[in-house]
Amino acid sequence: MKHRNDSKGNQLRYAALALLTVVSTPLCAETGTAQGLGIAQPLSAHNFVSGDVGPIINDSGEICRVCHVPHDHARASQRYLNGLLWNHDVSSATYTMYNNTWSKTLTGTQSAQPDGHSKLCLGCHDGTVAMDAFDKYVSDGTNTMRMLHGLTVVPWFQDGANLDLRGTHPISVAFPAGEAGDGKNFANPATATWAKGQTIASTLDNGKVQCSTCHDVHDQESIPGTHLLRTANSPAEGGVPSGLCLTCHIK
Ligand code: HEC
Ligand code: HEC
Ligand code: HEC
Ligand code: HEC
Repeated sequence: MKHRNDSKGNQLRYAALALLTVVSTPLCAETGTAQGLGIAQPLSAHNFVSGDVGPIINDSGEICRVCHVPHDHARASQRYLNGLLWNHDVSSATYTMYNNTWSKTLTGTQSAQPDGHSKLCLGCHDGTVAMDAFDKYVSDGTNTMRMLHGLTVVPWFQDGANLDLRGTHPISVAFPAGEAGDGKNFANPATATWAKGQTIASTLDNGKVQCSTCHDVHDQESIPGTHLLRTANSPAEGGVPSGLCLTCHIK
């Protein structure tokens, strides 16, 4: 356990350095664009009104509205079961999950299809839904991420008619029972923390690892210079080697 604590100390020091240099951080494909200062930052990936990183999706200037809306306005998509006043269409794709045929060792319970917060991310990132499919506009359906910028499409490959999640870290998956804590394969989510101090448990969704567990969509609890990650994963991003992975996996 000792090296894990040391790692965390280093992460904090590196994170502090990264914050000081954030203004001069160049944009490039190698490192992420996240600023860690909130979604209203023009350079934040999900600021769809600035046009600096992603496209301008809502030209009314309302940042939140592409994803959340305060009233339903009689549109079915806004009653998505996940709540959160969700305002964006979700994907109707089916997926080949990581566990189906791929892993001989996965023991955590995984949902049959992506659910919870991951379903919300996939509504843009799987590349099948137009990004401007939210209450404000009638989308013509052409503005998908696959057409716009293939590098941020997750998952890219297909398995027959299914989108293939076997090349993506397992999502909608629980920590394996009895595997968390000292001397086990996983850190204890109730006490292990991300670089900015939240517990892993507070970023699980219904007890499961989702896209939003590793990434902060609002770019507030993320580390500058990463892909909206909650802990940097390399020295180049201002962290320690594989610091994100080692937050959960004891290896
Ligand atoms: C409304 C559409 C939409 C939704 C919903 C959405 N994203 Fe994105 N995301 C985008 C766009 C557009 C970009 C920028 C793509 C580009 O740079 O071409 C992006 C970029 C990203 C990036 C790359 C940032 C970087 O600096 O490299 C990550 C990571 C990401 N999103 C994760 C998520 C996660 C996790 C969720 C769900 C919790 C999510 N997104 C939900 C549209 C969306
Ligand atoms: C790209 C889509 C996207 C945009 C834009 C967005 N959100 Fe979210 N929001 C999400 C997703 C996905 C979740 C659930 C995952 C999570 O909480 O990390 C969420 C969760 C939330 C929550 C509940 C959990 C929490 O973090 O407190 C609140 C409140 C919220 N968003 C407010 C906002 C506000 C206010 C804005 C605009 C300033 C905004 N969001 C912009 C996608 C988005
Ligand atoms: C938020 C905690 C968390 C983080 C961060 C995390 N993982 Fe995982 N990982 C899990 C969980 C939970 C599983 C499912 C474990 C199981 O059921 O055996 C998993 C599964 C895996 C598997 C599949 C194992 C198998 O038996 O098939 C691999 C490989 C893996 N993770 C590698 C990584 C790598 C590499 C990173 C860093 C990029 C990473 N993980 C980051 C929690 C995490
Ligand atoms: C276990 C942690 C973890 C989970 C869960 C996770 N990611 Fe990532 N993601 C990463 C890491 C680490 C990177 C940076 C390394 C890389 O580029 O592959 C990344 C990179 C990205 C990027 C930047 C472009 C790219 O492909 O490199 C996007 C977009 C993204 N993730 C979206 C998602 C979406 C959508 C989900 C859910 C379906 C998701 N992530 C689930 C850890 C995770």
